[in-house]
Amino acid sequence: MIKPYKFESIYSDGKHILTKGNIIGNEKTIDGYRVWNPRRSKLCAMILNKCKILPIKKNSRVLYLSTTSNTTYSYVSDIAENGVVYCVELSPRIFRDLVHICESRKKTVPILADANRPGSYKHIVESVDVVYQDIAQRNQTEIFKKNIGMFGKSHGHGIIMVKARSIDTTTDPNHVYKKVIEGLKEFEILEKIGLMPYDKDHMAVIVKNV
Ligand SMILES: C[S@@+](CC[C@H](N)C(=O)[O-])C[C@H]1O[C@@H](n2cnc3c(N)ncnc32)[C@H](O)[C@@H]1O
Repeated sequence: MIKPYKFESIYSDGKHILTKGNIIGNEKTIDGYRVWNPRRSKLCAMILNKCKILPIKKNSRVLYLSTTSNTTYSYVSDIAENGVVYCVELSPRIFRDLVHICESRKKTVPILADANRPGSYKHIVESVDVVYQDIAQRNQTEIFKKNIGMFGKSHGHGIIMVKARSIDTTTDPNHVYKKVIEGLKEFEILEKIGLMPYDKDHMAVIVKNV
């Protein structure tokens, strides 16, 4: 039986977590609900690894940095059903697919841009409740801070997916995580969640803008 999960707009059949929304391609559904796969979505892995809070809610405005060709942003828009999701992607090829999918989702706004240059989409994006970032680059913390600085509400939230191997391939991932956390010291760190067994050497960090 499908029941509401502990966070808004997320459901569970006891085995999977699910959302309600337009189906993309031939993805798996159960009774019309979309099955969310933690091996294809770090946000899903973070939720299944028992994060205590999920700042993305029904009415949230979310800035989603780097959508890639997978579908996490569409699950974010299922959760933020009365809000809006601004989807920033750098690759024109991936952007083309994104535009196509966003056409059937009224409240997703595709933006072809470099998240390193938030000023380039300042005329499109309003202030947001949550900045969600999954960019596997060495300067991922800087990118995150720049975007929260420009678009984050005071007391708003940020979620950053840290891939230790993108920052430093030689150092122990725990050391890399420690440095990332130090780099985020202007925020209140609410949670740090490892993504094993779904993603090796990844950690999700949830912060609050103070
Ligand atoms: C790590 S994946 C993103 C994963 C995805 N968000 C998810 O939920 O699994 C990398 C993506 O980041 C994009 N990207 C890399 N650098 C970027 C930048 N500076 N601005 C925007 N997108 C970027 C790439 O084009 C690629 O699609």
